Amino acid sequence: MQDTNPAQLDSIETATVEELRALQLKRLKWSLKHAYDNVPFYKNSFDQHGIHPDDLNSLEDLAKFPFTVKDNLRENYPFGLFAVPREQVVRIHASSGTTGNPTVVGYTQNDIDMWANLMARSIRAAGGRSGDICHIAFGYGLFTGGLGAHYGAEKLGCTVVPMSGGQTAKQVQLIMDFKPRIIMVTPSYCLNLADEMERQGISPEDNPLEIGMFGAEPWTNEMRSELEQRLGIDAVDLYGLSEIIGPGVAQECVETKDGPTIWEDHFYPEIIDTETGEVLKDGEDGELVFTSLTKEAFPIIRYRTKDLTRLLAGTARPMRRIKKITGRCDDMMIIRGVNVFPSQIEEILLKQPSMAPHYQIELSRTGNMDCIAVNAETKPGTSDSEKLKIADQVTKSIKDFIGVSAQINILPEGQVPRSLGKAQRVVDNR
Ligand code: DLL
Repeated sequence: MQDTNPAQLDSIETATVEELRALQLKRLKWSLKHAYDNVPFYKNSFDQHGIHPDDLNSLEDLAKFPFTVKDNLRENYPFGLFAVPREQVVRIHASSGTTGNPTVVGYTQNDIDMWANLMARSIRAAGGRSGDICHIAFGYGLFTGGLGAHYGAEKLGCTVVPMSGGQTAKQVQLIMDFKPRIIMVTPSYCLNLADEMERQGISPEDNPLEIGMFGAEPWTNEMRSELEQRLGIDAVDLYGLSEIIGPGVAQECVETKDGPTIWEDHFYPEIIDTETGEVLKDGEDGELVFTSLTKEAFPIIRYRTKDLTRLLAGTARPMRRIKKITGRCDDMMIIRGVNVFPSQIEEILLKQPSMAPHYQIELSRTGNMDCIAVNAETKPGTSDSEKLKIADQVTKSIKDFIGVSAQINILPEGQVPRSLGKAQRVVDNR
């Protein structure tokens, strides 16, 4: 691993916390005013709360301002939350939106440049350098993953391979032929690439990859170990969401691997109690909320991400970190009164050396009882008697550590659906 040369960092990455807070306050004042003056939704919402941008005198005052939620984006579909004339919007992205209107976000040229700079900063924090070959297997298109990563990698001076998702065998061929040092992909799809490499007899030493930047879905430290061992890479966490910019809101530094550092000079984070909305102290668990500090086309004030985490003091950078996100409010399953996250199941499965890292959770209802089944696979070559033993152990661990009775189905190899982008971890048949 290369050391990070401080001379290569953006100056704010070596600033003091006081300097960072002063910059945030200045930018926050601008952002609140920009939203209030140019977006009728924010004007109405602030007015209804009896609050005005001029009332903000400290970063803590932000707590007096109202939240923004995903439905507010849908209600203002498609361009109602833009703060600049549409002609100044040079790019649109949108969420797939399985139900109702998709959520649409827009960028001015300055926004695109800021995003590219932060993605470049993220790749550098992950250990990437100018001159590296970078294979991007996030989907391109309305999803922010592919294009967001792409512009950042170009900005850093990488040679970009814009592969997008799918065509697994082709991906492996291009990785072996082009010899990228960096791959950016969802962790679940990367498992498919690792399986394909194994099928082709490619060992971790033979594959050219050194750094994996993984994100767009929750993944555990157990999955990190799995990916690092199978691919012979450093696996680091890339976090982001479309409403804020896309990938590059926060990035884990390779030298510490202790949770993503939030690029706080552009996005101000808060953690709130999901029930009361009260702002919690750093270190307390709750829902992550972001306010954009510099965005022009689509300023966003106190956006509730639904991602559950806590804020931690900075280590490799002055900016605060988030604890690795292992769940969202809306993928929490309540099974007979017990709160269960897919990531807790993942953690238990991957602690079993003979388990393969593919799994899907199925929820059903018998009478008025909720039932949870985990469909999983063992590693190739596991005997039937061993499979039974492992299923028993996993059942017991889930009962002991999570407190629910789950049925474990060990399926034949290849039967658990494979992901091509974001994995669907839960199928709810209730
Ligand atoms: O997934 C942006 C992205 C692309 C991030 C590529 C990283 C890499 P959305 O489709 O709007 O945007 O989904 C955002 O995905 O609120 C989290 O719930 C989840 N998510 C994203 N990154 C991570 C991560 C992109 N590293 C939603 N760990 C977010 C856990 C993540 N969850």
